[in-house]
Amino acid sequence: MKLESTPTRGRTLDHAAFVYDALEPFFLLGKQAEYDRRLVTLLSVSGSDRVLDLGCGTGVLTRMIADRLSPESGGVAVGIDAAAKMIAVARKKRAGAGCVFDVMAAESLSYEDASFDAVVSSLFFHHVQLDLKEKALSEAFRVLRPGGRLVIADMHVPTTRMGALVSHVSRWFFLQPQIAENTRGVLPGLIEAAGFAKPEIAAVYFGYIALFNTRKPEK
Ligand SMILES: C[S@@+](CC[C@H](N)C(=O)[O-])C[C@H]1O[C@@H](n2cnc3c(N)ncnc32)[C@H](O)[C@@H]1O
Repeated sequence: MKLESTPTRGRTLDHAAFVYDALEPFFLLGKQAEYDRRLVTLLSVSGSDRVLDLGCGTGVLTRMIADRLSPESGGVAVGIDAAAKMIAVARKKRAGAGCVFDVMAAESLSYEDASFDAVVSSLFFHHVQLDLKEKALSEAFRVLRPGGRLVIADMHVPTTRMGALVSHVSRWFFLQPQIAENTRGVLPGLIEAAGFAKPEIAAVYFGYIALFNTRKPEK
């Protein structure tokens, strides 16, 4: 059955799905595996944990997370993306026991409240405008159990001249004002406004991608 993309005002990447796996290593300057491993380490998931990956693309990170879990004990990594072609690639190349993919918009999740132990997202938030960033964060908060971890890697206030240049060129080359929101530094405030603890920046890659680490409070 042909998968249909979910309507969203986010900038989806159906058109790039067929080349995404070939291009991402260049965008991440050959550090994709290290970067993904860092995210997985921050998530510190194992065994029967249920983990949700927002804007998963072709599912490389989702698969890496699934490899840390135990499907026999109920552990599962779920990747969602609004672009059906991304999910088709992810399913074909990376789905398996404890690793599943759904076509879904991050701002409108169909999962139950408190149904995940951790939520992660890599390079998704600069694809959606402010109100959708807010909705996606409030959905992440809703589906996370109390005490569950949220890890987000995305464009943030540049820390180097090269980072500032890459951010500026990307914003205008891709005609993507959502990038300028990120580089103005909106993410930490939005994360806190959604109810999460104040996020710490665990690392910065390439002078413009920050790794935010936080939790949903226990109460
Ligand atoms: C730059 S890619 C990141 C993919 C992957 N997480 C990674 O790190 O390689 C951004 C992804 O967000 C997806 N996307 C855009 N708007 C979305 C939305 N509202 N809900 C879910 N996914 C969305 C795009 O289709 C795209 O696959």
